[in-house]
Amino acid sequence: MNSNGLVSGQGVSEITYIHIYECDQFSMGIFCFPAGRTFPLHDHPGMTVLSKLLYGSVYIKAYDWVRGETCSPRTNGLAGTAIDGIFNAPCEPSVLFPRSGGNIHSFTALTPCAILDVLSPPYSDDLGRPSTYFLDFPIPSLPGYAWLEEREVKLPCDLVVKGATYLGPPLDVPDDDLC
Ligand SMILES: [Fe+2]
Repeated sequence: MNSNGLVSGQGVSEITYIHIYECDQFSMGIFCFPAGRTFPLHDHPGMTVLSKLLYGSVYIKAYDWVRGETCSPRTNGLAGTAIDGIFNAPCEPSVLFPRSGGNIHSFTALTPCAILDVLSPPYSDDLGRPSTYFLDFPIPSLPGYAWLEEREVKLPCDLVVKGATYLGPPLDVPDDDLC
């Protein structure tokens, strides 16, 4: 952080989240990654998420649940690979949906990088939209699929996320239209 309180995104030593805005309808923020850090596999229940790589290079692995007969939130089960690749800025934003687009994803920074995240609606434990972390076990006999198991801890001990204050221009969100 420099003397103005600004975060040098390319100089962070831990994953750093700059929270920009949150209301009932959406939340928005930027994750800054140092090279080599991984944000582990996690889901976005009932949510649509737009992610935009702002700079750098990132490896993204993402899955969608293989649909069963129930619509209830899954904890363990078979998932199909939706994304398994490297993204280099500049590139198009990606969007995930409740049941498609790679709703369960992980990020590994190959260089210092930053990702703008817009979540709609936001996470909410009270409203049945908690963040759950998973381990993935590829199935050699079933290429493109993996068995996902919920991690027992609410927040993985190998995940460190620091907070930083957003100092950019304020968001002009009309109360009546959105929030
Ligand atoms: Fe995510």
